[in-house]
Amino acid sequence: MFLHARKLVPYVIKARVKSFERLLVPQAVKASIKSLLKKPETVFTESLIVNDEVVLDRHLRICRTLQKAIDGGGIPKTGIACEIGNGDCLSSTDLLLSAGFSKVYLVEFAFPKVDCHQMRILQAAAGAPDLENSLAIFKNIASQEVDAGRVVHIPGIMETARLPEPVDFLFSFDVLEHVGNLDLFFERCAESLRPGGYMVHKFDLSGHGILEDPIPPLDFQTYPDWIYDILFPNPGRAARNPFPEFLRMFAKHGFDIVSSETLRAAPRDYVRTIRPRLRADLQGISDEMLTILDVIVVARKR
Ligand SMILES: C[S@@+](CC[C@H](N)C(=O)[O-])C[C@H]1O[C@@H](n2cnc3c(N)ncnc32)[C@H](O)[C@@H]1O
Repeated sequence: MFLHARKLVPYVIKARVKSFERLLVPQAVKASIKSLLKKPETVFTESLIVNDEVVLDRHLRICRTLQKAIDGGGIPKTGIACEIGNGDCLSSTDLLLSAGFSKVYLVEFAFPKVDCHQMRILQAAAGAPDLENSLAIFKNIASQEVDAGRVVHIPGIMETARLPEPVDFLFSFDVLEHVGNLDLFFERCAESLRPGGYMVHKFDLSGHGILEDPIPPLDFQTYPDWIYDILFPNPGRAARNPFPEFLRMFAKHGFDIVSSETLRAAPRDYVRTIRPRLRADLQGISDEMLTILDVIVVARKR
């Protein structure tokens, strides 16, 4: 009997170590460490790479979201516009120019490449019956020459950008959640926008990269800062600001909220179960605010 039990000892120890490991190292952290050991992902690329269809879907979704926000909010389609962090997308710029804006500033690290993939997407947007896109972005469509007088690239980030003139409309899509210094970002928005001008920001407050689906959407808010810093040392990471912090910034920098629409929400039960594990900064935030994952805010400068 004793001999028989001794044979089991290594298995018992192994099982104990496994359950201890599981207790200490959550799945997401393990996945993150594994992926950190792999080749790092490109944060930004000028080229439209990998999967054309996915990129096409994303660019069309950006255009539809922008057009709905402009039309739904009765925002005038005149004057000068600016898109902050357009990434590899030029279709939103084309929409703004086609709809009536005279010029678009693009605040982004690099200007997107106009290659055959970009052309196909721009043409698809121009062919979509529900979008105002009409390839107005080009000075010469045949030579694929972008109209440099109407599309002006401002290299860098908004916090350090200086637009050459005030604008009437500001737009960003999936950018605000990456902004580390919200105060400076909103200060620049307020400086850049004319009084009475509108801005539309669509942003995504759920986990990004290795901390998104199938990892539940707010689990990334449970890690203490030091673990998050190890997992995502890059400055372009999701900055983990909660929704009330954005509302505070709009008000502080002189913007009235015209509308705020939640496009995707976390289940309440999930928010309730995760609450005890949330990092300390989020403990005072209501369940309702925490459920907001994808949101579009239209604001107007006083
Ligand atoms: C998730 S990508 C979104 C790109 C594009 N709007 C889209 O939805 O496909 C975020 C982009 O915002 C840019 N970005 C991040 N922080 C920024 C800032 N503070 N000012 C301007 N651009 C920023 C990044 O360079 C990146 O291209």
